[in-house]
Amino acid sequence: MSFTRRSLLAAFAGLPFAPSALASAQTVGLGELAARSGRYFGSAVTRDDVSDAGPHLRLFDGECSVWVPTWQMKWGALVPTLGDVPDYRACDAIVASAAKRGKRLRGHALIWHEHLPAGAERLSTAADWRRFVAPHITAVAGRYRDAVFEWDVVNEAIEPYDGGADFMRRTPFYAMLGSDYVAEAFRLAEEAAPLARLYLNDDHLYYAEEWQERRRAGMLGLLERLLKAGVPIHGLGMQCHLDTRLHFDDSVFRRFLKRIEDLGLNISITELDVTEAPNARGRSISRRRLRAAAEAEKVLSVAFDSPALAGVVTWGLSDDDSWLRNRGPDMVDNQGLPYDDAYRSAPLRDTLASLFASTQTRHPT
Ligand code: G3I
Repeated sequence: MSFTRRSLLAAFAGLPFAPSALASAQTVGLGELAARSGRYFGSAVTRDDVSDAGPHLRLFDGECSVWVPTWQMKWGALVPTLGDVPDYRACDAIVASAAKRGKRLRGHALIWHEHLPAGAERLSTAADWRRFVAPHITAVAGRYRDAVFEWDVVNEAIEPYDGGADFMRRTPFYAMLGSDYVAEAFRLAEEAAPLARLYLNDDHLYYAEEWQERRRAGMLGLLERLLKAGVPIHGLGMQCHLDTRLHFDDSVFRRFLKRIEDLGLNISITELDVTEAPNARGRSISRRRLRAAAEAEKVLSVAFDSPALAGVVTWGLSDDDSWLRNRGPDMVDNQGLPYDDAYRSAPLRDTLASLFASTQTRHPT
């Protein structure tokens, strides 16, 4: 693995002789560092994280310029059972806290095949779309049109192994409108929230693995079809749930990002964290944290070279709250976020700081 100045900076970042540039970066919040580089930094948050009584509110406030509701904006969280009256209280609380603290909100996600209202999994006709889905998109995007600057309009539309020639995931939305559901969702979102940047969000697009190559092909094909049809889409959200077990080849990822740039789209990293526990192989916790930071630096340094990169969101700030730790017995102590279980800064935080501090976007914001 070749070492760049930046990777050396990042690799030693957690050690006592952190270079002065980095030392100052640790006193300045990641959101501020990102803004100085022409980008944004944020985190997924829950209602408790950002309530006045939130035990770590100071961290979510001090580190983030952007917040993303972890699940509270999803259809199933707003409408537990199809036909229910939506319950916006949790969302409204996050929106109010964001307004109070000057945070911008990424909306996540208007359309996703998971966390659906009970009964929505049976929807299958265009009439179902008109009766349930279209009003949902219009209502939520409209309600938060002044609070959400960037929406994940559709999440995880690609699944090459669902058997379709279009490499698209067969979901209830696909059953209702075929592949047109994506374009229709974006058009409805633009109508309801004309100022928001509208993103297609997905995962597993970064590693030199055959199954990810198929996903990249599916994603590029879908994006090209949407743009050719004049669909109002502004960016690709790459979740970046990274994994130390997978093979990375920077030229492969760089080539993919160049294709996205050539389409004129923004890129955002929308759910960054690192899975490292399953192949930790007896390494100490501190070595594992450095290894997670190095994995992030390896992948993100390519993304940070892209003029299209608009921002980075981590999927939480502390390992203590990470969804990854619920993914199996070998994941219970995964070290994959910028802060550890005790909310102490981890090397991944320094990696992000050094990436923001050592690069300037070439993106004409
Ligand atoms: O604790 C609350 C409970 O108080 C509340 O009454 C209940 C109502 O639904 O929800 C409970 O919280 C759960 C929450 O996780 C915290 O554990 C939600 O039920 C549960 O749905 C939620 O799961 C989230 C999941 O998306 C589904 O929305 C995960 O936190 C979240 O990490 C995960 O995030 C997804 C992204 O949206 C898309 N990319 C993959 C990523 C990981 O699966």
